[in-house]
Amino acid sequence: MDWGLENRLSRIIKPQDNRALMLAVDHGYFLGPTEKLENPKKVIGPLLKHCDSLMLTRGVQRSSVSATTETPMVLRVSGGSSIIGDDLSQEDITVSIEDAIRLNASALAMSIFVGSKYEYQTVVNLGKLVSEAAKYGLPVLAVTAVGKELGKDARYLSLACRMAAEQGAHIVKTYYCENFEKVVQSCPVPIIVAGGKKIPERDALQLTYNSIKAGAVGVDIGRNVWQSEHPVAMIKAVRAIVHGNSNVDKAFKLYQKLASEDSKNTQKSKGNKPNQNKNKPNKPNQNKNKPNKPNQNKNKPNKPNQNKNKPNQNKNKPNQNKNKPNQNKNKSNKPNQNKNKPNQNKNKPNQNKNKPNQNKNKPNQNKNKPNKPNQNKPNTPKPTPAKK
Ligand code: 5RP
Repeated sequence: MDWGLENRLSRIIKPQDNRALMLAVDHGYFLGPTEKLENPKKVIGPLLKHCDSLMLTRGVQRSSVSATTETPMVLRVSGGSSIIGDDLSQEDITVSIEDAIRLNASALAMSIFVGSKYEYQTVVNLGKLVSEAAKYGLPVLAVTAVGKELGKDARYLSLACRMAAEQGAHIVKTYYCENFEKVVQSCPVPIIVAGGKKIPERDALQLTYNSIKAGAVGVDIGRNVWQSEHPVAMIKAVRAIVHGNSNVDKAFKLYQKLASEDSKNTQKSKGNKPNQNKNKPNKPNQNKNKPNKPNQNKNKPNKPNQNKNKPNQNKNKPNQNKNKPNQNKNKSNKPNQNKNKPNQNKNKPNQNKNKPNQNKNKPNQNKNKPNKPNQNKPNTPKPTPAKK
């Protein structure tokens, strides 16, 4: 393996124990201001030192992460569709290798949508990205996005993970499922598990534990950390499992202890807020002995009141949310993707209807392949990627 590639990979999967704790904050690339990630800078700041690497977009990296950090960045380079658009699986590569290098990315990340309308496009894009990234020793993390109807079972995830690895991905991110060992065993590169939607803290710790026990190198966890009431306590508990070999009970106790300390501190700081200067008699007038500090606005007579003549910019703007579906209405963390959308399959011809039965004269290809999902199911449902 090339030195650069090996070095970058070792920043993500720690060679000491071959484990990885990645914090995912890339959700805005198709979800916009995701609940509790509205202000990425505020969220990332306290968590940064507790994760091994941070998965994010270039916009958030530039705007919300200090360039002095030592935490390696896993840069999402794919995107293009939103949660309210036509088809979430229609993604392309949106970031150039040059920009990824400028951002000192330790790895590039992109999604593939196996079984979706855009399967071909996303899988070919992965192959191309791996080839391009290889020129610079940049590892690629492939995210196997899942479709609601396709489910998250071991047969489907094995197929998607294996395809990603075959295209040259260095790490594959996928979802935990029953019989997850099978997914891990049939994937020749390390697997990292996505946290998924917010669940109770103990359950998220159990998922972390089960994933590692089944052979994953770690977790790439987002909502279950920063949507927790106590994100730092939660990431420390996850870390205790990933790098400290803690069991779930021990990790959950740690979470509870840290969470209660956090609550007390918050309470305390709230209680002390009204008169913060009460016991600081020397601070009240900080300018008292600084007679030479000029009134900074004194000599700027021409600076107009910037708001005075500005039209109220919101006055004539339509309420942008007025006609938008309430994305969070029915699901705590996930907008109802189908609520206001026409049934996209309604007027679509049954895609299999007029297709010749391609398997008619073919030998039964599934006979000895227990892990192959039934690709000939009538009306293969349109996958609605259900990552969030
Ligand atoms: C989006 C992603 C997310 O980073 C991934 O889903 C991990 O975040 P979470 O733990 O919230 O599921 O890759 O495509």
